Amino acid sequence: MRHHEFILALTSLFTISVSSIEYRRSHGDLEPLEPWQVTRLNTFSPSGRPGSDTLAHLWANITNPNSVPAGPGTTFDASSANCTVDWTYGGENPYGRVFECDTEDAQSSSSSSVSKWEIEVLEANSTSPSATTNMDVKFMLTVNLTVDGDDYYKVLVGTQHFQLGENMEGTCGGSGVCSWSLKSDSVPVLVQPTIVACEGTC
Ligand SMILES: *[C@@H]1O[C@H](CO)[C@@H](O)[C@H](O)[C@H]1NC(C)=O
Ligand SMILES: *[C@@H]1O[C@H](CO)[C@@H](O)[C@H](O)[C@H]1NC(C)=O
Ligand SMILES: *[C@@H]1O[C@H](CO)[C@@H](O)[C@H](O)[C@H]1NC(C)=O
Ligand SMILES: *[C@@H]1O[C@H](CO)[C@@H](O)[C@H](O)[C@H]1NC(C)=O
Repeated sequence: MRHHEFILALTSLFTISVSSIEYRRSHGDLEPLEPWQVTRLNTFSPSGRPGSDTLAHLWANITNPNSVPAGPGTTFDASSANCTVDWTYGGENPYGRVFECDTEDAQSSSSSSVSKWEIEVLEANSTSPSATTNMDVKFMLTVNLTVDGDDYYKVLVGTQHFQLGENMEGTCGGSGVCSWSLKSDSVPVLVQPTIVACEGTC
């Protein structure tokens, strides 16, 4: 290799390593976040017959299996939640209403972050949207932590589409009652979270 070609090669090597450092710095080693896992998503619609139960339901279990960076040397714990959405079938739909889930923080000795999961059913952009068989489900995770008087928090949001025949299956009984759940080969359904608010390592 001639001398000036060698210098050129060295220069481009240097440029590559500098730009990869810049990339890591500007993304704070945070992106992409690890996906959440939906391990259960069931829906139920009643028959609509007079005198029978009129409530429809959507139940979901979601887990964030990984800890998330919070601040210098601290992380938010993993957590999971069981969520329930109820609405009157036929008379209303659940779209846009936020329901708080039962949340459980993973036991961890390193931190004692407080997590809160919420769920919201969104109308699918589809010709036949349905809150029980063809809908988008948005999950929101708020985690906070105080270390040495410093408050850290993050708000993460992720949305996934659920649809009969794609990732859901089930049956309707002769009475008109329908029960739907995740196809077993779809479990867990992954949900990619993004950060919508943050204080600390962001
Ligand atoms: C979800 O329900 C299961 C079974 O009832 C229970 O073991 C688990 O602790 C619950 N999780 C949360 C986060 O409430
Ligand atoms: C989901 O949560 C329910 C309770 O709400 C529990 O009965 C069930 O075992 C959980 N299932 C999974 C797969 O986590
Ligand atoms: C709905 O879906 C159609 C077809 O895929 C797309 O053109 C349109 O932009 C979508 N609308 C919204 C609000 O996402
Ligand atoms: C976390 O947020 C909840 C609800 O906003 C609040 O009650 C709690 O004090 C906060 N905890 C910490 C450690 O900041």
